[in-house]
Amino acid sequence: MHQQTHISTAITAATDLLKQGECVAIPTETVYGLAANATDVGAVAKIFEIKNRPFFDPLIIHTDSIEKLKKYITHLPEPAALLAGRFWPGPLTLLLPKTDAIPDLVTSGLARVAVRIPHHPLTLQLLSRLDFPLAAPSANPFGYISPTKASHVYEQLQGKLALILDGGDCEVGLESTIVGFENEQPIIYRLGGLSVEAIEEVVGKVIVMPHSSSSPQSPGMLQSHYAPRKPMVFDDFEQVVAAYSPSEIGTICFENAKANIPLANQWVLSPNGNLAEAAAALFSAMRSLDAGTVKVIFAEQFPAYGLGLAINDRLRRASAL
Ligand code: TXA
Ligand code: MG
Repeated sequence: MHQQTHISTAITAATDLLKQGECVAIPTETVYGLAANATDVGAVAKIFEIKNRPFFDPLIIHTDSIEKLKKYITHLPEPAALLAGRFWPGPLTLLLPKTDAIPDLVTSGLARVAVRIPHHPLTLQLLSRLDFPLAAPSANPFGYISPTKASHVYEQLQGKLALILDGGDCEVGLESTIVGFENEQPIIYRLGGLSVEAIEEVVGKVIVMPHSSSSPQSPGMLQSHYAPRKPMVFDDFEQVVAAYSPSEIGTICFENAKANIPLANQWVLSPNGNLAEAAAALFSAMRSLDAGTVKVIFAEQFPAYGLGLAINDRLRRASAL
C-alpha cells in the first residue's frame, strides 16, 4: 500500500477520509496521533498495520465533549469526573468501563477503554464534525519516539497514509498521563504531560504504578519503548565517557551543557530551568541526535518533580535494552 502523503490543514479532507474509514495523522497538544474511526473495526485495524503495532497494545479514543463519551462508557467514577472537569481538554487520559459500542480491538479485549479530550484547536474542530470518537495512538512506528511535529510523522509514515493534518509543534511534547480507578481510588499507569502534583491537587494522594516489562497493565509501561535506534545511556555519564570519544557522544541536558563534548552535539533543553519547556523539546532532541553523526546518546537525570518525573520515565525507557 503506497500512496502520496499530503501535509496540510485541510480539515474537510480529514473529515471525509475519516468518515470513509481511512487513517489521518492529527495534531494534539501532547504528540501527533494516527487517527481512525474508533467504532469501525476495519479502520482501527489499519492503525495497527501502519504502525506495525501488536494487537495486545490497546488504543486511546479521543472526543471533543464529555456528552459524546456517554455512549462509550458505563460509569464515570467521582474522582474521574473531577479530573475530567478540571483538566479536559488536556494531557490526561482516563481508563473507564466501556460499552459494546467500542470494539474489543480498540481495548485489546480489556473491559476498560482509555479516553481523552485533546487540547488542540484544529483537532477539536475536526472532532466536532464527527459523530464517532477517534482511536489514536502516537503516530510513530511501534517502539520508536513519538512525533511532536508534522515532519516527524512524514519522515516515518509517508506513503502509508493520505493526510497529515498540520497543527504545528506540540505544546506539551510528552504523551498524556494515564489514570485508572480501583474502587474509586485513582492510579497513575503512565506518567505524562499532566504532573502528579496537579492531579493530587484535585483528588488527593494517588498511587503511581511502577512500570513493568512483563504482562503490563498498560503496554505504554513496556520498558523498552519510546526508544531511538542508537544506544542511549541515562544518568551514567562516566560510563559513556569511558567507552566513547567526545565527538561520538551526543547529549540531552536540562540547563547546562557537559564540559569537553562538542556543543554542536549537545541539546540543552531549557537554559532557564523550565521543565515544561524541556518536555516540549525532548523528543525533537532525541530524534535529531538519532539522525545525526554521534554514536551514543547520553541523557542526564532531570529534577524528580513536576514534568521532570515523566521526562525521566521516558529517558529511562528509551535507554532500556
Ligand atoms: O498523548 C497521548 O496519549 C497520545 C495522543 C495521540 O493522544 N496517544 C498515545 O497513544 O500516546 P499510545 O497508543 O502511543 O499510548 C497509549 C497507551 C498505550 O501504552 C496503551 O497500552 C495504553 O495507553 N492504553 C490504551 N488503552 C488502554 C486500556 N484500555 N487499558 C490500559 N491501558 C491502555
Ligand atoms: Mg505510543
